[in-house]
Amino acid sequence: MSHLPVRPLTAHPSSALRGRVRVPGDKSISHRALMLGALTVGRTRVTGLLESEDILATGAAMRAFGATVERTGEGAWSVDGLGPAGLLEPEGPLDFGNAGTGARLAMGIAAAHPFASTFIGDASLSRRPMGRVLDPLRQMGAEVIARSGDRLPLSIRGADPMAPIAYRVPVPSAQVKSAVLLAGLNIAGITAVIEPVATRDHTEKMLAGFGAEIEVGRNPDGETVIRLEGLPALRPQNIEVPADPSSAAFLIVAGLIVPDSDIVVEGVLLNERRTGLLEVLAEMGADIAIENERRTGGERLGDIRARTSRLKGVTVAAERAPSMIDEYPVLAVAAAFAEGRTVMHGLEELRVKESDRLAAVAAGLAANGVECEEGSASLGVTGVPGGQGLGGGRVATHLDHRIAMSFLVMGLAAEKPMTVDDAAIIATSFPGFAELLAGLGARLGEAKTPARGAA
Ligand code: S3P
Repeated sequence: MSHLPVRPLTAHPSSALRGRVRVPGDKSISHRALMLGALTVGRTRVTGLLESEDILATGAAMRAFGATVERTGEGAWSVDGLGPAGLLEPEGPLDFGNAGTGARLAMGIAAAHPFASTFIGDASLSRRPMGRVLDPLRQMGAEVIARSGDRLPLSIRGADPMAPIAYRVPVPSAQVKSAVLLAGLNIAGITAVIEPVATRDHTEKMLAGFGAEIEVGRNPDGETVIRLEGLPALRPQNIEVPADPSSAAFLIVAGLIVPDSDIVVEGVLLNERRTGLLEVLAEMGADIAIENERRTGGERLGDIRARTSRLKGVTVAAERAPSMIDEYPVLAVAAAFAEGRTVMHGLEELRVKESDRLAAVAAGLAANGVECEEGSASLGVTGVPGGQGLGGGRVATHLDHRIAMSFLVMGLAAEKPMTVDDAAIIATSFPGFAELLAGLGARLGEAKTPARGAA
C-alpha cells in the first residue's frame, strides 16, 4: 500500500483558473464509514467514498478482520460487518501505508478484540508517534508490543474482558478520541472521553447515526465530555460522503492566488470543526462565497466559490488549530502572496503529521524565495503580492501529500516554475489532483510548458 514509485512534478506560472469542480469524498468520514460498517451486522452502503490509497488500506484492514467490503460502482461501496464484538483475527499484518488516521482508529478496534493484530506502514507512518493512542488502550487492558518509542511495526492484543475508562485526551486529537471510543464499543459499561479542546466530531456523529448510545456534553470546566455505552446493537446505514474540505482547500487557495481566477468547488463539507481555513482566509480579505448551502446526513454542505483576491497578512491564534490542522501548509502558501506578514501560532502538532510539516513548509518557502521564520510551534511568512521573484526551487515532500499539493499550488502563482520531488504521494488522499487542476487551466507537467503570458 502506497509504496508508490516517486514522480516529480512541476507547476508553471498559470492564469485564469476557471470552472466548477468536485473534489473527492472526505477522508475522515470515509475511514469511519468503512470501520463502523465493519462493526455492524448487516449491509452498510457508502456513496461518494474517497477512493484513495489511505482509504483502500482501511478497506483492506476491515476485510482482514472478516468484514466483506465491496466496490459496487464509482465511489459506491458496501460493507457487510460482523458486529462490535465479532471481528476475526487477521491472518497477516495490516498495512496502513501512509495513513495515520486509518492506523490509529483501527488500533482502537483491534485493542478490544482478544487476538493479536499487527500494524505496519510506510516510512512516514513508521516514524509517527503511536503512544498517544496506545496509552489509553493499555489502560483499558490491551497488551502492546512495539518498536521503541511506540512506533510501527507493532502488535496489539486485547484482554478479555477489557475495562471501560474515562480518558482525558492530553493532545487535541480526533484520532485519539476516536480510537478510545471505537475500543469502547466492545467493552461493557461506559467509556468516556474528555476533550479540553474540541476536535472534529465525525466519530461521535456517525456512532449516533448507527444507533449507539452516545452522549456529548460539557463539564463545569467547559471541557467536552463524550460518554459511550458499550456493546450497542448498531444498525447498518446508508452514508453519503460529502466532498473533503481539506482537499478543497488546495483549489480554493489556487483560485485566490492565481491571477484572473474564478472557481467553484461543489458539495464541500462545512462542519464547523473543519472550517478554520475559510475563516482565516476571510480575515485575509479573500473573495470567497458559500453558495447553495444545504444539509445532508446531519452535516452542512455548500459550494465554495473563490476568486482572485488581494490578500493581507494576519495573525492566526493557536485556538484555531483544531479546526484547520491539516490546512496550515496551504495557508502558508496563501500567506506567501499576501501583503505583509502572517504569523501562525499553536503549530506543535504539525511536527508529527505525515512529515514534520512545520519544517517542510518553512524549507519549501525558503527554497522559493519567501521570507519566513520557523519557531518551535509557530510560523511567520512575509508575503509578496503578485509573487514577483518567487519560485524556481525544488521542494522535498517527505512522503507528505499535503506538502506536495501546497507547493504545486504555489508554483501556479509564483514567477518561476516550482518542482515537487514526489507527486505520487498525493494519491493517498486526492487521486486525480493534478488532472483536476489542469482541467481548470493550471499548467502542470514538464518544464517545457510555456510560462504565463507566453503564447
Ligand atoms: C483526523 C484527525 C487529525 C487530522 C487527520 C484526520 C481524523 O489528526 O490531522 O488528517 O480523521 O480523525 P489528529 O487527530 O492527529 O489531530
